[in-house]
Amino acid sequence: MRVTSELRGQVTQLRSQLQKAGYAYYVLDNPIMEDAVYDRLYRQLQELESQYPGLITSDSPTQRVGEEPAAQFNSVKHNIALYSLENAFNQSELSKWEQKWRRQLEEDIVEFEYVCELKIDGSAIALTYENGILTRGVTRGDGITGEDITQNIRTIKTIPLKLNIEDPPPIVEVRGEAFLPLDVFSMINQERSKTGENLFANPRNAAAGTLRQLDARIVAKRKLNFFGYTLHLPEERLDNQWDSLELLQKMGFLVNPHRKLCQSLEEVAQYFTDWDGKRHDLPYMTDGVVVKLNNYALQKQLGFTQKFPRWAIALKYPAEEVPTIVKDIIVNVGRTGAVTPMAIMEPVQLAGTTVQRATLHNSDRVAQLDIRVGDTVVIRKAGEIIPEVLRVITDLRPAQTVAYQMPNSCPECNSQLTRPPGESVTRCVNSSCPAILRGSLVHWASRDALDIRGLGERIAILLINSNLIKSIADLYQLSVTEIASLERMGDKSAQNLVDAIAESKQQSYARVLYGLGIRYVGNVNAKILTENFPDIEKLAQASIYDLEAVYGIGEEIAQSVFQWFKNNSNQELVKALQAADLQFATGSDTSNFDHDQSSNITQIFSGKTFVITGTLPSLKRNEAKELIEQAGGKVTGSVSKRTDYLLAGENAGSKLIKARNLGISELTEQQLLELLNK
Ligand code: IVH
Repeated sequence: MRVTSELRGQVTQLRSQLQKAGYAYYVLDNPIMEDAVYDRLYRQLQELESQYPGLITSDSPTQRVGEEPAAQFNSVKHNIALYSLENAFNQSELSKWEQKWRRQLEEDIVEFEYVCELKIDGSAIALTYENGILTRGVTRGDGITGEDITQNIRTIKTIPLKLNIEDPPPIVEVRGEAFLPLDVFSMINQERSKTGENLFANPRNAAAGTLRQLDARIVAKRKLNFFGYTLHLPEERLDNQWDSLELLQKMGFLVNPHRKLCQSLEEVAQYFTDWDGKRHDLPYMTDGVVVKLNNYALQKQLGFTQKFPRWAIALKYPAEEVPTIVKDIIVNVGRTGAVTPMAIMEPVQLAGTTVQRATLHNSDRVAQLDIRVGDTVVIRKAGEIIPEVLRVITDLRPAQTVAYQMPNSCPECNSQLTRPPGESVTRCVNSSCPAILRGSLVHWASRDALDIRGLGERIAILLINSNLIKSIADLYQLSVTEIASLERMGDKSAQNLVDAIAESKQQSYARVLYGLGIRYVGNVNAKILTENFPDIEKLAQASIYDLEAVYGIGEEIAQSVFQWFKNNSNQELVKALQAADLQFATGSDTSNFDHDQSSNITQIFSGKTFVITGTLPSLKRNEAKELIEQAGGKVTGSVSKRTDYLLAGENAGSKLIKARNLGISELTEQQLLELLNK
């Protein structure tokens, strides 16, 4: 059949009616048509599109969910970097923030406007619209690169596939928070508990996990939602954040309705106090409020530090505290052999999740709390994530309780536990303790390490108990038949796991290093180490002095890395992993945002090594480091003959003395800024 212009018109009209109705329903929460009418129009459009597939466009409301699950997500570079926010926890920190940026402004402006927004506890995502059509949705990732999850983003009904504005600019970038409403979150966890899957710890993890689901049809069922809060237009069409939020809403986005334009810091503080009281009435989780200077010209003047905008701050809510009853006290053996006492409690709701275990940290803490089974305790979430016991309400202690004694032997392998003098941690030092291997394996397979999907705690236990694995390296020898012999494991899942294990051989050296689980080597330190020691041999041979000379690597980390490589079984593990073809050297992909940024800055410090010490009058250390690096210099942690300059601030100590003994040139912050023409 021929496509007539009348038919085209009909399809366009249906799409526009459906788009308007969707906007009214999902964004404005003010439906303009009956559900049945919407469904009828939707079906009409679907029928026309199936008859005339040539008429299908990517912004059609019928095209939100694709048919085929994605094989994987591609890593992509953000068009504009995503920054994080500096935190403040009280009013005095908020005032300090204000004083800091006021000092930095050129003019002496007396009054400022602040936009206050709720800080939504979800996952930041970046959306790209080309000529008004959604073409890309990317996770935050490390702020420089993220994963392309466009297919999943398209399922979110409050994200328009087409911007609702006349004459859209060629490129529009929108940032905001994808989140799961609390009712959806608890429904997902209920279902997961039925199928024996691990529960999501909180709505934030659930949202992040959902965004990384490979099957967009599952994502569509999970009912993710999205609040837009940042709009980047190519030309300077907007003057301030408040107008941007208004425009975002007009464009079709859901913008949080509780935003407020405040004229003073007192008003901001009031907004914070009000929402601290009301936040639990909201159907989604928030963890504070975000305060942004409204005026874009001021924002531009203030700019960014390496991590944060100077013109915004997150004012975080204090951790919540709730009482509950201790049912048992157990110990948990982690991957480093550390034995952590844990309280098992009557389940309670705490900051949006159900909590029934809380850490007691170590035996000193247990003794200090004198916590007993039957006690009523107050718990809270440390860093908003890990539940911990804050205090025992001894007045409510039942009669006949007994003081708790930490066990002397490991609950997993029965070997004697040790506690080195001067340390607070009790350890199992049996390197073949199943708990240590299990923890190491789970860590190795975790998302930020080798990212082996399908290898979680359950499978790790089965692999160890069936003697298939005695070391991480044994993973790379496993056959499909061996894995398929495990409980509840079909041939298909076994094949998937073998494939995922094989794929992990492509993961970077930095991930491998992080995966080894060396104490204090988290993913940031792993990256720093691999950048400075481009292969594992160089790292293994580094002295404590070499390690400490790296900026960001302190004494504890240096000691820990050094000791790790001295250990024979660790050396063997590295050899076995090398034989299995894992990456132990940096590849070609060393591109990094800072280098891009510095490309047009004169490299006056090329080849020069700096050490920073003491408190600088206005710059933070990482800001000074950034400036030096942008000008081609290198910043290291300790003074040596190779140091060219010492940037010294107030209260400089031993480094200054050492530098003077070695005759190294000293610079003040002011001299540095003058050299850089800043
Ligand atoms: S603005 C440069 N506004 O909080 C601007 N962030 O802790 C940076 N977040 O990564 C972000 N609600 O994921 C902004 N109204 C809001 C927000 C918000 C939640 C998240 C966002 C950010 C994190 C920083």
